[in-house]
Amino acid sequence: MSDLDEHTITNAVAARFSNTPDPRLKEMVQSLVRHLHGFVRETEPTFEEWQAAIDFLTRTGHMCSNVRQEFILLSDVLGVSMLVDAINHRQPAGATETTVLGPFHVANMPVSAHGADIASGLPGERLLVEGQVTSTEGEPVSAAVVEVWSADEDGLYDVQRTDLDGPALRATFHTDHVGRFHFWTVTPSPYPIPADGPVGELLNATARHPYRPAHIHFMITAPGFQRLVTHIFVDGSPYLDSDAVFGVKASLIEEFKLNAAGTAPDGRIVEQPWRHLRRSFGLKSA
Ligand code: BEZ
Ligand code: FE
Repeated sequence: MSDLDEHTITNAVAARFSNTPDPRLKEMVQSLVRHLHGFVRETEPTFEEWQAAIDFLTRTGHMCSNVRQEFILLSDVLGVSMLVDAINHRQPAGATETTVLGPFHVANMPVSAHGADIASGLPGERLLVEGQVTSTEGEPVSAAVVEVWSADEDGLYDVQRTDLDGPALRATFHTDHVGRFHFWTVTPSPYPIPADGPVGELLNATARHPYRPAHIHFMITAPGFQRLVTHIFVDGSPYLDSDAVFGVKASLIEEFKLNAAGTAPDGRIVEQPWRHLRRSFGLKSA
């Protein structure tokens, strides 16, 4: 006969999982029981509070669709996404640090030519990005697949706008024989993460803002190397110290150097002041 109370229930529940055949599942589920019970013991929720938590998670699930993943967003604002990332990407010297993927990546973008303008006519301060992909030893990596995407001047990704005919501010490039690629785009702006759902309510109720500092996303893959998912942040951007999803790392902040109108290094004549980002990316061996 079991006669459990608040002091004995945790071990009893954990023990009920002791025949789990998969050792990793057993470790995780027993740890989950201990930590969940610890949370309840520490906070002593009322029934109303417990119900509010169930309602919150239910609404989070209902918010999910093929274009919206509210649970990942919840993991992001609780810092769990970056903690999982940090644990899984302990970096050797020479490897570029990683950060969150975010919900705005679009797979299988066609490959663009070096020097392409990927702004699709969107307004904004012109930006030349010149990159190089290397191994952690600094050897150039040729034929790496470099996917880039960023928000526009108004802080919106193309997939968030209904007034565009096709993709904008996103592209795929292949690095050349010395690991280089370059393209033109517009300087990104800070923007709020999607805040019209339960995660936005949580931020609101806890007096947190939803903003991310201005950044460009990079996803780089090459045979023999681990996939790199990262951003480059604009030095001086608002919110570098309070990113809503805790994704900023000092090594990923770069000056987007302002230049007077004139001829850019790739020969393009730019009629307005323009910015220049130069950056290398170190890939870890697979
Ligand atoms: C992003 O940078 O695109 C992003 C990352 C996490 C949550 C929302 C957006
Ligand atoms: Fe982003």
